[in-house]
Amino acid sequence: MTHEIAVIPGDGIGQEVTPAATDVLEALDIDFEFVEADAGDAVKEATGEALPEETYELAASADATLFGAAGETAADVILPLRDAVGSFVNIRPAKAYPGIDAVRPETDLVFLRENTEGVYAGHEDRLTEDVSTLTRVVTESASRELAEFACDYVDTDEHDGFTIVHKANVMRETDGLFRDTVAEVADEYGVETDEVLMDAFATHVCLDPEQFDVVVCPNLAGDVLSDLAAGLVGGLGLLPSANVGTERALFEPVHGTAPDIAGEGVANPAAAIISAAMLVEYLGYDEEAAAINEAVEATLEEGPRTADLGGDASTEDVTAAVIDRL
Ligand code: NAI
Ligand code: MG
Repeated sequence: MTHEIAVIPGDGIGQEVTPAATDVLEALDIDFEFVEADAGDAVKEATGEALPEETYELAASADATLFGAAGETAADVILPLRDAVGSFVNIRPAKAYPGIDAVRPETDLVFLRENTEGVYAGHEDRLTEDVSTLTRVVTESASRELAEFACDYVDTDEHDGFTIVHKANVMRETDGLFRDTVAEVADEYGVETDEVLMDAFATHVCLDPEQFDVVVCPNLAGDVLSDLAAGLVGGLGLLPSANVGTERALFEPVHGTAPDIAGEGVANPAAAIISAAMLVEYLGYDEEAAAINEAVEATLEEGPRTADLGGDASTEDVTAAVIDRL
C-alpha cells in the first residue's frame, strides 16, 4: 500500500527541517509517495497567495500532510490547512529528553487541544475607536468530538485518564459547556478525569509537572499552556505536533521559521523528525514510529547536536545520525 503524503516545507528553516523529516521517512520500509507543494511568505510574494488553491486541495486529499513553517503569513496558512484536513484536535506532546538541559527534566505531558473554536473562531469586531469585542464559541459537538478522541487516546496501559483544564468558574457558559461535556463523555467511556482551572494549572505544571499526564483543554488555553510546557522541556526545537481529523491529519513542528538561523543549515531537525514519527504512528506503523523516536532520543543524548543544544553539528549531520540509528 502506498501512502500519499503532502509535503509543505513553507519558509525559513521549514525548507531545511522538512527534507530532514522526509529523508528519515524514506529510510523506513514503508511505501510513501511524497507530493511537494508551496505555502507561506515566499509563494505569497510570487503569486499574491500565501496558500495556493492546489496546496489546500492536496492537503485535503492526501493521506497525511507534513508541514514545516510559514513566516508572517503563518495564520493565513496553518488555519486553512487545519481546516483542509478537518482537524478537530491538536496533539502536542511536551517531553523532556535525556541529556537535554531542561528546566523540568521530569516533564512528560501530552496536550489535547480543541482545534476549531473558542476565541480562535474568528468573531472579532471593532465597534468604535475605543471598543473592540471578541465572541468566544464553544459547542457541545466540538467538545464531545475532542472528548471522545481523548478517551480513545488514554485507552492504553500508559495512561490513567486525563485532566480537564478550563476556567468554568468565570466563563460559566462557554467553559461550563466544555467542562460538562468532556466530563460526561469521559463518564460514558468509564475514563477517569480530574479538573484544574487553567491559571492554577500554569503554576502547578511549573512546580510539579509529574502530577499531569494527558491534558485536555480549550483552544487558547491549549496554545498558551503547551508553549509554557515547551519552556519546561528545553525549547521549541524539540516539540512536535499533530492536527488530527476524522479522515486525515497534518503533522508539524511547533516552532516557526527561525529567521535568525534560516539558510545556514544549522536548524535542529528533531521536532520535524518526531512530527514525522507521529505521522507514521497515525498511519498505523507503531514499530516504525517507536524506532524513529528511539533513534532521535539516542541522537539527542549522545550527539551530534545542533547549536541550540550546545553542539556544532549541521541539520544534515543530525539527520544522518538519526538514520544511522534506525
Ligand atoms: P521561531 O520558533 O521561529 O523561533 C524562536 C527561536 O527559537 C529562534 O531563536 C529560533 O532560532 C529558535 N528555533 C526555533 N526552531 C528551531 C530549530 N528547529 N532549531 C534551532 N533553533 C530553533 O519563533 P518566532 O521567532 O516567534 O517566529 C519566527 C517566524 O515564524 C514568524 O514569522 C512567525 O509568524 C512564524 N511562526 C510560524 C509558525 C508556524 O508556521 N506554525 C509557528 C510559530 C511562528
Ligand atoms: Mg502557539
